[in-house]
Amino acid sequence: MKITILVSLAIAASLPHSAFAAQAQPGPLPEARSFGAAKKMHLMDADELQSFKALAQYHEPKWVSELVAAGKLPAVKDRLPKEPLVYSAASMSDGIGHYGGVLRHVIGGRPEGWNWAAGQTLGWGGINYGVAECLTRTGPLFTLNADQQQPLPNLAKSWEWSKDAKTLTMHLIEGAKWSDGAPFTSEDVRFYWQDNVLDTNVTAFAAPATFGEGAQLKALDDYTIQWTFAEPASAQVLFKMAFFQFCPGPAHLLKPEHPRYNSAKTYQDYRNAQPANGDLPIATMGAWVPVEHRTDEIIVLRRNPYFWKVDEQGNQLPYIDEMHYRLSTWGDRTVQTVAGSADFSNMENPANYVSALTRAQKKDSPARLDFGPRTLGWAVSFNMAETLSTSDAREVAIRQLNRNLKFRQAISHAIDRDALGQSLVKGPFSQPFAGGIYPDDPAVDASSVVFYGHNLKLAKALLDDLGLRDTDNDGIRNWTSGPQNGSNVEIALIVKNDHVADTTLAEGLVAMLQDIGIRLIPRPMHSNSADSLERSSEFEWMIKRGDENRTPIQQGEKLAALHNNVPLWHRGGGTTERNLQPFEKTLSSLMERYLSSPDPLQQAKLIAEFNHIFTENVYQIGLTSVPGALIVNKRVRNIPAGTPILAYQWAEDAVMRERLWLDPLPKVDELLPKTIPTSK
Ligand code: GLA
Repeated sequence: MKITILVSLAIAASLPHSAFAAQAQPGPLPEARSFGAAKKMHLMDADELQSFKALAQYHEPKWVSELVAAGKLPAVKDRLPKEPLVYSAASMSDGIGHYGGVLRHVIGGRPEGWNWAAGQTLGWGGINYGVAECLTRTGPLFTLNADQQQPLPNLAKSWEWSKDAKTLTMHLIEGAKWSDGAPFTSEDVRFYWQDNVLDTNVTAFAAPATFGEGAQLKALDDYTIQWTFAEPASAQVLFKMAFFQFCPGPAHLLKPEHPRYNSAKTYQDYRNAQPANGDLPIATMGAWVPVEHRTDEIIVLRRNPYFWKVDEQGNQLPYIDEMHYRLSTWGDRTVQTVAGSADFSNMENPANYVSALTRAQKKDSPARLDFGPRTLGWAVSFNMAETLSTSDAREVAIRQLNRNLKFRQAISHAIDRDALGQSLVKGPFSQPFAGGIYPDDPAVDASSVVFYGHNLKLAKALLDDLGLRDTDNDGIRNWTSGPQNGSNVEIALIVKNDHVADTTLAEGLVAMLQDIGIRLIPRPMHSNSADSLERSSEFEWMIKRGDENRTPIQQGEKLAALHNNVPLWHRGGGTTERNLQPFEKTLSSLMERYLSSPDPLQQAKLIAEFNHIFTENVYQIGLTSVPGALIVNKRVRNIPAGTPILAYQWAEDAVMRERLWLDPLPKVDELLPKTIPTSK
């Protein structure tokens, strides 16, 4: 409350002295309607889930043993590390599995290429997760007890902190191999850090400051690495070593393609260097290896014969031999999974909800569907960087508007969020979203949200106050002073057209803002292009599904100005220093404290305060939030009960696909039966 009063006073003080100056009117967020409960989960401790140990015997599919007998592969015990990662049988909801079959995915994404170490996405929808392995892993944490919510060991199998928390020594898994048989060592880690993250010519998924300003990393020997931090670090850095920020690529293949090691190569060459000659397969540490890509048709992955995880009986994982990604649309993913022609979908396209739900409730439905909480939501990002990547005075003027609180409040008051939610899906699913942390999130107490709800008259009055008036009677407001004097207020809105919900929301927004005399010009494009414009700060407004607007906030840094690369709607860089507004500084200090606090009670307080200031200042403008549902074919075994489509990671990681198995084995043909990546 105190904060509200202070900020309101500050706003009042900054207004022109007019008795009639309009004031934004915060109110409570409307209460959510119920849509049915999510399933109960079975929770365990980390050591009940997995451990690293040598087993007496190892097994593999029969057809792989035949390749070994034919001299095409070393024996399974020689392909595995000294101490593989072992999943306990008790942690598997359907127990130890059998080998074989195909897991069929459909995705709306497309690969930018295969060099994930250099920041290329392999297509989303699960390919990245299946291929890249990272130092730590967070997806499965939702299956663990509340006091066990710390990153799981993965490529780093153990670690120790120094007393002053400035040194972190990590032990890598020993004797593990890339899918082409080359050893995985600390050189892969060093190369990723030094020649990808620290080399600013490469846009890797992590930035130098991701692990704290001044963080250093060195290899002590083949299997030991050591981090040193300028300030005492917290377990939070371990979260950042999980997907997608610390997942090394194969140094033995990438080094010869990198300009630092080969003067004949450019950085552009390097980015596209995996695979070097353009021919799949690539080498991965993941359970499956991409072996074939037919553009806009399909990507086929085969089991990695060197994969370093096993079940308790020594069966080398994965159980499933082949993985398909049909290249279609995200909506089609849901339709096909409900119909039984695909196996796995995060239902996140509300337009499909009612029909999918109706179909899944029928007894003969090939798929089952479980709703989770409302962890999907959309917001508009306003680019607040004053000049970064602007090309003319109009763009600079838009950035100034974006930085004006009264303007953002006016936009919020212009939006009818109930109508937007219903345009996505009729019924009780959607809930208005004010921005910040999703309202359904258990960490968010409703009273921490400041909501500027639908009030057209007030929206118009606020814009009038700002001197934005329709002086030429064409229905669009004009600037009435400054370098843009006389021009219409027209704003470009980037919309990801591979996500239907984004397009629907954009249509609603255009109409709603038309009513207050602001012209939004949608710029529809594929997510890959939108993401890259966002990263280079070349946008005015952008509709975003907020994958980080939730707790556990492992990516909370993306919501505050903790370093130059975040948040994406106010990036630093370029020639002038980033001009952070006072509330942005408060938000980053709150987030910093939240991220490093070891105390859940204190964290809860900090995040509530963060959310209050975020929503009060309309840092992003929330639109609506909806639940997701995981849809899985009934023959897929070992999906943990109650898996949310998005918690620490997306469900593709959370369900631990390397342990899924199929019963009965499908009649669907494998496209490349009995092949390993190197022999396809
Ligand atoms: C995309 C999809 C999500 C999920 C992730 C996995 O973002 O929209 O449902 O599949 O990819 O990375």
